Amino acid sequence: MRLRSSKLELKHIILTGFMGTGKSSVGKVLAARLQLPFIDTDEIVEALSQKSIAKIFAEEGEAEFRRRESRAIAQALKKPQAVIAVGGGAPCFRNNLEKIGKGGVPILLTARISTILQRLSADRSRPLLQEADKEEKIRALLAQRAPHYHRISWQLPTDGRTPEQIAEEILRLLPLEQSALRLNLGERSYPLYFQREGLGALPGLIRRHCPSERLIVVTNQVVARLYGKTLRRHLQAAFDLRLLILPDGEQTKNLKSAAKIYEKLVAWKADRKTPLLAFGGGVIGDLAGFAAATYLRGIPFVQIPTTLLAQVDSSIGGKTGVDLPAGKNLVGAFYQPRFVLIDESFLKTLSRRQLTCGMAEVIKYAAIFDAKLFRRLEDSMEGLLERPEAGIEPIIRRCCELKAWVVERDEKETLGLRAKLNFGHTVGHAVEALTRYKKFTHGEAIAMGMVFAARFSEGKTGFSSRELDRLQSLIARAGLPTELPKFPIFQYRRALIQDKKRVSSQIHFVYLNKIGKSAVLPTSLNQVLEFLYAARS
Ligand SMILES: NC(=O)c1ccc[n+]([C@@H]2O[C@H](COP(=O)([O-])OP(=O)(O)OC[C@H]3O[C@@H](n4cnc5c(N)ncnc54)[C@H](O)[C@@H]3O)[C@@H](O)[C@H]2O)c1
Repeated sequence: MRLRSSKLELKHIILTGFMGTGKSSVGKVLAARLQLPFIDTDEIVEALSQKSIAKIFAEEGEAEFRRRESRAIAQALKKPQAVIAVGGGAPCFRNNLEKIGKGGVPILLTARISTILQRLSADRSRPLLQEADKEEKIRALLAQRAPHYHRISWQLPTDGRTPEQIAEEILRLLPLEQSALRLNLGERSYPLYFQREGLGALPGLIRRHCPSERLIVVTNQVVARLYGKTLRRHLQAAFDLRLLILPDGEQTKNLKSAAKIYEKLVAWKADRKTPLLAFGGGVIGDLAGFAAATYLRGIPFVQIPTTLLAQVDSSIGGKTGVDLPAGKNLVGAFYQPRFVLIDESFLKTLSRRQLTCGMAEVIKYAAIFDAKLFRRLEDSMEGLLERPEAGIEPIIRRCCELKAWVVERDEKETLGLRAKLNFGHTVGHAVEALTRYKKFTHGEAIAMGMVFAARFSEGKTGFSSRELDRLQSLIARAGLPTELPKFPIFQYRRALIQDKKRVSSQIHFVYLNKIGKSAVLPTSLNQVLEFLYAARS
């Protein structure tokens, strides 16, 4: 499967924003720190026109100024990499915003009206602010520009901060931006950031994607014990921070815990802008995501996955939900996060069993989509399990690319593509249900399900026995089981019938054609059961 390159190409760094937000002062500091030239497009306009901007406005009118400004932007963008300050009105005229977006990384500096007034109190040179009631004029201009400003995704508040502090924040986030993978879903698009020891970047990322003075974190006792202090250290100074620590385990992923989160959100006065951050494995991510999707019909949601399974799978793609006594994930919502921060250093405290559980999902991606990834896993499985934090980042990233590619094309699992991610899950889910989610981890259950599905594929799609051996061997090397537990067939039948993915007597079964290529085909439940029966006897 061919995928687009996930790297953002860093060209210019382009600062824009309303008058008084500090484009020039921040731009100069930033340029000095990066040892890049600083370009101010207003200065280009003045140089080309041989007169001040105020004079251009007075003598030739705003339309003429905007025409020259657009030319100046085009000129600046043609130059070698630089920090460029672009006038605050520019994003609202002509196709400047598109040009800026293509030419570099646009950053919108923002400030409260009171801050703008204070910063501009002694400035008489602004042609758009020559009115008695400056506050009213600023309010009107900001309202007029808001729809254009909203299209700039990196927004940086500047109130109460020095140009050095703002430049510092931009410098901290730039490498993250460069290496981010973007999941494109129109207005609900979001970045996946990859950063080892990345909690330090969190305040900046939250300010960028869901600015708020308050922040609510949902985590569990295990993760809080290991990383709660570090998280607090990074977030406490920047936010009014509240932590909700829930009990560990799948049994927490239910409506009662969701209600507990709602109660805390009310008690802590969370409003529509208050972000909810899930800090933990798939259980916390699914549960907190569901609460974020439903509280006030949706509040900003952020994922910091701390297990391998959550980093390669559950934190990406927007499936959130809770379990009911009748079955897993029976209540849920599609709800995308504002961003995901993936930090492989969390994996060093993960138990070997939890690591292999996530590895089952990694093997799944390789088996269904990517033969090259499969070979890479064959070359390095033992080393990856021994010291995951040493070499697993590119593998996590590749799995995220694959998942993002799938979600972008079939977000709500209606076209059959996202259904491929259920490879091994049909029988795997049955095993989980039959063992009451206690005996096997999710990864162990789907490992057995994958081997079953691959054997089933042999007779259906011509999947070769040599490739079946490779899959089985890789799963075994990861320390995962390959043989299904011997429950009576009627119990498997009952479990398969109860699985929520069943459509009448047909199921959508995921087959392998070869390593790296898969197909979803309607299959009768009886065929699956017959094969199960034959395989067991
Ligand atoms: N939303 C989706 O698309 C999706 C996809 C796959 C699975 N899931 C769901 O994900 C859940 C399973 O996720 P999981 O495997 O992450 O389980 P989990 O969240 O229960 O985490 C597994 C264990 O690891 C511990 N843990 C977490 N981070 C740790 C760390 N850094 N160091 C040490 N211990 C740590 C947890 O406390 C827990 O005991 C299931 O509920 C499943 O339904 C959702």
